Amino acid sequence: MAAMIGGRTKLIGILADPIDHVRTPAVLNPLLEARGADAVVVPLHVDAAGLKALWPGLRALRSLAGLIVTVPHKTAVVGLVDRLGEAGQLAGAVNVIRREPDGTMVGDTFDGRGFVEGLRAHGHEPAGRRVLLLGAGGAAAAIALALVRAGIAGLRIVNRSQDRAERLAARLQAAGAGMEVEAGPAEARAFDLVVNATSLGLRASDPLPCDLAGIGADAIVADAVMQPPETAFLAEARRLGAIAHPGLPMLEGQRELLLGFLGFADRPSSA
Ligand SMILES: NC(=O)c1ccc[n+]([C@@H]2O[C@H](COP(=O)([O-])OP(=O)(O)OC[C@H]3O[C@@H](n4cnc5c(N)ncnc54)[C@H](OP(=O)(O)O)[C@@H]3O)[C@@H](O)[C@H]2O)c1
Repeated sequence: MAAMIGGRTKLIGILADPIDHVRTPAVLNPLLEARGADAVVVPLHVDAAGLKALWPGLRALRSLAGLIVTVPHKTAVVGLVDRLGEAGQLAGAVNVIRREPDGTMVGDTFDGRGFVEGLRAHGHEPAGRRVLLLGAGGAAAAIALALVRAGIAGLRIVNRSQDRAERLAARLQAAGAGMEVEAGPAEARAFDLVVNATSLGLRASDPLPCDLAGIGADAIVADAVMQPPETAFLAEARRLGAIAHPGLPMLEGQRELLLGFLGFADRPSSA
């Protein structure tokens, strides 16, 4: 956060509804302050109907550097932005928007690259792994693209709605995946990276997103679900001797990417 808010201070809004739980200002403001950025992250509590009314005002707001976007606005803003990055297009979802000086709004999602960064930060290199991806929604699509770009060996997508998995596989092939990408059944034993990017695990009563029987000891089982931090899926992975990787690193892995996209990259001092 800007040490002192002044006339040049840039605003980064976080669009959410509900908003009480949002921790983004508490996480990003200290990072901005530490790097001497004249910018502040503030909550913007707005519902779906309100966002449409607010949008022309956001576009006109010259103090606005950009917006962080979360539930329930991630897909709605796809139709509002002027330009969309590759991951945002493929996922049909946006989690950050940069306002250019002329009012052009540029959206993208860093859920996927954040996931890959989070894996690497914990010593898990995805390159060369055969990946079983559970889910075909916004987060799953972004993760799929980032994993393909990170050089995995192959990808199978499993989803409750099979047609959605097939469409995602086709979009990834059309984006030049350059490897085997298929929609199919969940046979965890044949994979060495299994990723839960469904909403299953958020509630204690949820079933496991797939059966992990036969999973190898060197396999990584990752969960996008952050709450609870240790899902039943991760507990089952540990019980079977596999490596469990929780949802928080996916969020942590995005911080620098989001700030860089908004124009506040950390610049190493030239001492
Ligand atoms: N860690 C992070 O930083 C981070 C960031 C973003 C999202 N996430 C998490 O990622 C998960 C997905 O988010 P999203 O934005 O991609 O949501 P989304 O677009 O709504 O997609 C939800 C996915 O979950 C599946 N699903 C939902 N209920 C199900 C059920 N009862 N049984 C089987 N499958 C079910 C859906 O299948 P259908 O296609 O059949 O409906 C779809 O594949 C959420 O848990 C979210 O909290 C984490």
